[in-house]
Amino acid sequence: MLNKHSPVIIVGGGAFGLSTALHLSLAGYSDITVFERDEKIPSKYSAAYDINKIVRAEYEDEFYTQLALDVIEAWKNNPIFNPYYHQTGYIVATSGSAPSKARDTLQKSLSSLTNRPAFRNEIKQLSTKDDFRKYAWQITGPLKGFKGYFNRIAGYAHSANSLKSAFVACAQRGIRFVTGEEKGKIVELLYEGKKCVGVKTADGKVYKAETTIVALGAYAASLIPSVGNFAVARCWSVAHVQLTEEETDLLRGIPVVNVRDLGFFFEPDPATRLFKLCPLGAGFVNTNKSNGISLPPPDRLPPPQDYIPAEDERKLRRLLQETFPWMANRPFVDQKLCWFSDTKDSEYCIDFVPGTENSLVVLSGDSGHGFKMMPIFGEWVVDLLQNGKQKLERWQWRKEDQRGVDWGSSVNWRIGETRELKELIVEKEGMVKARL
Ligand SMILES: Cc1cc2nc3c(=O)[nH]c(=O)nc-3n(C[C@H](O)[C@H](O)[C@H](O)COP(=O)(O)OP(=O)(O)OC[C@H]3O[C@@H](n4cnc5c(N)ncnc54)[C@H](O)[C@@H]3O)c2cc1C
Ligand SMILES: *[C@@H]1O[C@H](CO)[C@@H](O)[C@H](O)[C@H]1NC(C)=O
Repeated sequence: MLNKHSPVIIVGGGAFGLSTALHLSLAGYSDITVFERDEKIPSKYSAAYDINKIVRAEYEDEFYTQLALDVIEAWKNNPIFNPYYHQTGYIVATSGSAPSKARDTLQKSLSSLTNRPAFRNEIKQLSTKDDFRKYAWQITGPLKGFKGYFNRIAGYAHSANSLKSAFVACAQRGIRFVTGEEKGKIVELLYEGKKCVGVKTADGKVYKAETTIVALGAYAASLIPSVGNFAVARCWSVAHVQLTEEETDLLRGIPVVNVRDLGFFFEPDPATRLFKLCPLGAGFVNTNKSNGISLPPPDRLPPPQDYIPAEDERKLRRLLQETFPWMANRPFVDQKLCWFSDTKDSEYCIDFVPGTENSLVVLSGDSGHGFKMMPIFGEWVVDLLQNGKQKLERWQWRKEDQRGVDWGSSVNWRIGETRELKELIVEKEGMVKARL
């Protein structure tokens, strides 16, 4: 077991890295340094650099339903996080033209809740437009063929503000932060024999540690290439509509609405008046042909900046037609691709890297559902260090090589086929030419 006063390095100040720093400190670890490539936290490279993320307990797997219920309590009770949790409720639905896969997933997520006492009086089935309007009276669209349910014990959290708050709490506890493209970006892990003994930053400085924890999200394989054998960097598109003050006031308090086959949206952010939409599909990967590993492009945004795939835009405009038709033809602003780390079975990876004599830990494979766990995630890393091994099989390092296998569309809750980022760039160039 690790001595609590020996140096620990955490690489990456995103959702998992910050939660880990906080909980290690609470558990008595006293010498913690976090390295983050962006100048400041929240980092613009973090998948959680965003105005909101869904917090919900619907999972097909009881294990995660329980963790999500636990974390919702933490969201409510921990003063570091509770200002940023908004329990607006959650509408899950399918449109009249949804494929059967979308309807099946909805049924499964509903049944994950209905047999739990915590949800006994908290779920309402929705079958008519009037049913939906009971929970979101602002909806004026036709909701043609919409079916679904409302769950009161769910909502969203302001993710960038949560990162910032965790960062401040960590700094107050004496955790050191080294940030910036030169000082804070780690370019290499250093080894002596099999043991990882520290890190090297872009400006060439060396930092030593007894334990190094890599929490790079989608970028994990940039420092530990073998992570790329079982976790791929994948991105989803995000778009926003800029609302006026009145429009923001009008939509205040609406539940998170997730239409399985079209996408989801949140109540507008009061500070920026942005209304965020996300078409959850199989997304895009960025595979390097020579080694089969998918990593985000080196800069924050790939060449098609301020651009989301035409197909995603169509889905989101249909979603608005059905719900808030007055918004359906408004320009999409702040469009971006958001990168996360995806595994075949949507399980996280929280484990020692094999063959490193427990000197190197990887936290990755959030699979697009990791942010909500931020208030408690770090407790699991404390357990790992104390136990000296990952006892839960589901979170262990994966030995199988998944490179070149497309599982993107086999994940139940995603609709569509995975595509390569290159195709998107070609699509964008075609659009630009067509406009000229
Ligand atoms: C569009 C989209 C929607 C999502 N919606 C939800 C949702 O509704 N609910 C939910 O629970 N989750 C959601 N997620 C997933 C959630 O964002 C992630 O699970 C979470 O951010 C993962 O945390 P992480 O710490 O592993 O990675 P990140 O938060 O991405 O952090 C990685 C950090 O590493 C830093 N870094 C990278 N390279 C280096 C380097 N070389 N040196 C130093 N630092 C480096 C980055 O700057 C970044 O700060 C969504 C993700 C996306 C993309
Ligand atoms: C692709 O991988 C090869 C081999 O690891 C590497 O040399 C090359 O720089 C990578 N290309 C890109 C664009 O990252």
